[in-house]
Amino acid sequence: MLKKFIKNMPKVELHMHVEGSMEAKTLWELAHQNNYKIEYNSIDELKAAYEFHNLTEFIDMYMLGTRVIKSEQDLYDVCMTYFKKCVEQNIQHTEVHCDIRTYVDYGYSPEFVINALHGAFIDAKNNYGITGGFMPCFIRHLGAEVAQADWDLMSPFKDKILAIGLSAVEVGYPPSLFKETFAKVRDAGIHVIAHAGEEAPADYIWSAINDIKVERIDHGIRCLEDESLVDYLRETQLPLTVCPQSNVALKIFKDMSQHTLPLMLEKGLNVSIHSDDPAHFNAYLTENMISIAENTSVTKDGIIKMAKNAINGSFASQQRKKELHSNLEDYLSHHQDSNSQVSAW
Ligand code: ADE
Ligand code: ZN
Repeated sequence: MLKKFIKNMPKVELHMHVEGSMEAKTLWELAHQNNYKIEYNSIDELKAAYEFHNLTEFIDMYMLGTRVIKSEQDLYDVCMTYFKKCVEQNIQHTEVHCDIRTYVDYGYSPEFVINALHGAFIDAKNNYGITGGFMPCFIRHLGAEVAQADWDLMSPFKDKILAIGLSAVEVGYPPSLFKETFAKVRDAGIHVIAHAGEEAPADYIWSAINDIKVERIDHGIRCLEDESLVDYLRETQLPLTVCPQSNVALKIFKDMSQHTLPLMLEKGLNVSIHSDDPAHFNAYLTENMISIAENTSVTKDGIIKMAKNAINGSFASQQRKKELHSNLEDYLSHHQDSNSQVSAW
């Protein structure tokens, strides 16, 4: 019953890397279609390799997905497959990561990514009523100079970019390294976000706040190690996009029952649930929410609170936020017993 309630509930996703939504089957088929040789002998063998010990190991597999994409159409198709999943899961607004640098390094133009993502979002709106936008990240382990070069490549397309983030290998690459480039991004009127406190300690979250002035933090789970940071995050209600199954898959928590999301919620932080790389971690948004509800003390009310936080934390227009809230309220009003606790279902 609870599963059905969560599955059908209108949702907003704010943290999802599009290549991370490529199922092993899609990756396999694209590799064969595009004559890209991969070292796995079957789809099952590839799928079996979706086992990670840490973020760095995961990033290697994630990059394999980017290598089999050989045309704008391929990338567009990957996006549209994700949007179809959004329809299935009633995700009505989604803000999606896809890094331009990766494809530029493969010899493509920045338009390769911009056109594919922009085109897919237009079609998602027209075909499914899904809104959202595209958020490339600077790849932090490539360093500050590459990030600056990325900004030079992207800035002519700023009207098609919703936000710029900071992703990939975290430890050793604090946001402070990218301070100057992010100042330019902010001056251009683009929203700034960053992965911080996923694997690295709470200082990285402070650096994202103080040095690059983020409007939202991707992950942020290690904030609990610093009481004054927790106070700051509660007071400012800076949104944290938490990805539970990603954290378990990358061994930040031993299993879902150990996840600190309930504590973050209890402390009054502006947390919400997202999928990060749903195909690699075997859980889209609905499955992430269900897993939290089933394996932790988060109640149904907590799930609803986080669904509201996701709407508020999005970069949707005020008008669209109102619509998203009203769609959620409508849904809740037709599920009157929705205020009961998870344990009562
Ligand atoms: N790129 C894709 N998934 C990521 C994650 N969880 N952290 C950092 N970079 C990523
Ligand atoms: Zn991420």
